[in-house]
Amino acid sequence: MHKRALVTGITGQDGSYLAEFLLSKGYTVHGLIRRASTFNTGRIEHIYADPHAPEARLFLHYGDLSDSGQMANLIFNIRPDEVYHLAAQSHVRVSFDMPEYTGDSTGLGTTRLLEAIRRSGIKTRYYQASSSEMFGAAPPPQSEKTPFYPRSPYAAAKVYAYWMAVNYREGYGLFACNGILFNHESPRRGETFVTRKVTRAVANMLAGRQKKLYLGNLDAKRDWGFAPEYVEMMWLMLNQDEPDDFVVGTGTSYSIRDLVERAFDYMGVEVEWQGEGREERGLVRSVNPKWRGALSPGNAIIEIDPRYFRPTEVACLQADIGKAREKLSWEPRVTFDELVKIMVDYDVRAAGLAPIGEGISVCQSKGFCYTNHDFSLSEAIREA
Ligand code: NAP
Ligand code: GDD
Repeated sequence: MHKRALVTGITGQDGSYLAEFLLSKGYTVHGLIRRASTFNTGRIEHIYADPHAPEARLFLHYGDLSDSGQMANLIFNIRPDEVYHLAAQSHVRVSFDMPEYTGDSTGLGTTRLLEAIRRSGIKTRYYQASSSEMFGAAPPPQSEKTPFYPRSPYAAAKVYAYWMAVNYREGYGLFACNGILFNHESPRRGETFVTRKVTRAVANMLAGRQKKLYLGNLDAKRDWGFAPEYVEMMWLMLNQDEPDDFVVGTGTSYSIRDLVERAFDYMGVEVEWQGEGREERGLVRSVNPKWRGALSPGNAIIEIDPRYFRPTEVACLQADIGKAREKLSWEPRVTFDELVKIMVDYDVRAAGLAPIGEGISVCQSKGFCYTNHDFSLSEAIREA
């Protein structure tokens, strides 16, 4: 009998990797998707099979975090062995524009799901997608013991959801785990998060399709890891003897400035910075002659747009992964440099250019056989 998992947020970056991973482990996967007037299933199309087919193990159900009735219905009828709650309004900058909606979906949506589980009386294991953003202004490195100091409506909603998961564990004996994940990225990252925005800009500039990249705070530092590694940790947490909360990150931290420099540098474009504050600009210092048609030394390719500033910023996130190391034998396998190369390779190819290929090789050599990274798990999915 296949184990059954319910994944909310299955159409997102993490949900899509997690679904592939669970299918490869032999699970039947049920995903919650939102009704939209445009396709929002692009990240999972490659693993979707006609539900009428006897071998189908991925099933999608319409629902929304605001709809407690549908959540109760799904929990009761699917009776999942494991629930991975990933759905959320996950964009920090957007949460300042939509604080109430963010609180309702990211915060209360969690309570609706937890209540559906409690009232159904089923025995299940529950993963809560908690976030390093909850640490906010707490100085790095941040561990499971660091007090939260949320600096955005998103972070405040995640702190609420974190404590609800803890309360259902302590109050009702639910096997609930908080994964406090630091930033994790991939070729499937949403285009408005800073890593993907930068790697797409590199590719589009070299393809002659973009002249400038507008960014906000260049000094903020983040602990950036590779998303496929992190979804494996979600599963690992739910498959321990006891429920617990874990910080997951790389233990290293880089600024947005570092990210920009490395992404361009990988493709042979050296960036230099001039000016200060809102007047700061990134210029091409030197460029591989191959790209001379698109970029020339002296071109101002990066400018600051205050629209991307946040009313309250999180200056530095850097994980202390001691607990995950000790209890889950966690060791991150992809470095920041490798992550940047993976994402640039993917976006360069998507822009119709030949990738350098070092990032693709990293994925292959380290065994991250996920679709759209030039190799596929689909064989493993069929065999499981
Ligand atoms: P993502 O790409 O933005 O995906 C979010 C998912 O939630 C999408 O499937 C989205 O559906 C769904 N969703 C949003 N609002 C919903 C609603 N009202 N009802 C039902 N579904 C809804 O996020 P991600 O990067 O995969 O992150 C997954 C989770 O981990 C999120 O909870 C995020 O806050 C948390 N997290 C992420 C990171 C990170 O660095 N990626 C770090 C820590 C924690 P649509 O596709 O229809 O929009
Ligand atoms: N998005 C964006 N766009 N961020 C920018 C830009 C820009 O143009 N310019 C500078 N930044 C800075 C932001 O101010 C922030 O300090 C940093 O880049 C990272 O921003 P995001 O990539 O949007 O990610 P985030 O750290 O705010 O949030 C992500 O990570 C959290 C975990 O710490 C999201 O995935 C959250 O859902 C997640 O919980």
